[in-house]
Amino acid sequence: MAEQYIELFGSSAQVHTDDLALITRHLSIRPGTVLDVGCGPGHLTEHLRSQDVDAAGIDLVAEFIDHARATHPDGRYELGSMHRLPVPDRSVVGILAWYSLIHVPPDDLDSVFAELRRAMAPAGLLVAGFFDGDEVAAFEHKVVTAYYWPVDELSARLRRSGFTEIERQLRPGVAEPGRRPQAAIAAIAG
Ligand SMILES: C[S@@+](CC[C@H](N)C(=O)[O-])C[C@H]1O[C@@H](n2cnc3c(N)ncnc32)[C@H](O)[C@@H]1O
Repeated sequence: MAEQYIELFGSSAQVHTDDLALITRHLSIRPGTVLDVGCGPGHLTEHLRSQDVDAAGIDLVAEFIDHARATHPDGRYELGSMHRLPVPDRSVVGILAWYSLIHVPPDDLDSVFAELRRAMAPAGLLVAGFFDGDEVAAFEHKVVTAYYWPVDELSARLRRSGFTEIERQLRPGVAEPGRRPQAAIAAIAG
């Protein structure tokens, strides 16, 4: 399904302007590496690079990494997992997890947050996008199971993992069939 995903979502022109603004606002302010974790086609990594951010993408799916490398030959894209990031402790100043945490089984989320926290420099910033829901619940995403997260619960889990929420953005599902409520949280390490 990677090809279909790339066609539907693989360009920053298809990303809501409020989302691009949130991502840019928090992840382009400090010199240092920003990791786009679950970067998919790499368009948001590239967006950050266009803002002079030293951004690198990592994804579990080889087709996405191949596409990102071919489309953005100057970028840095690596096959890998958010469960074990290929970076030293406290080495990145920012992490973007844009609709990638949605695929993490709820029981594994705390260990993923611990891994993100390990990689993050002091006062580093995390921006996460996900689908808002009344409860943690699975739904059949196009490719693999994904989960809704109540924003307050995700925020509390982040807090327990050493990240403090500093901004949230909510966009209700609109009257379009299958359109889910969207949420994003920006949080600071420490
Ligand atoms: C819905 S897509 C979002 C892609 C991209 N961030 C975007 O905004 O279009 C979810 C991405 O997360 C990746 N992903 C899921 N689990 C992952 C994991 N454990 N480690 C790294 N990437 C993962 C998938 O391969 C996929 O590219």
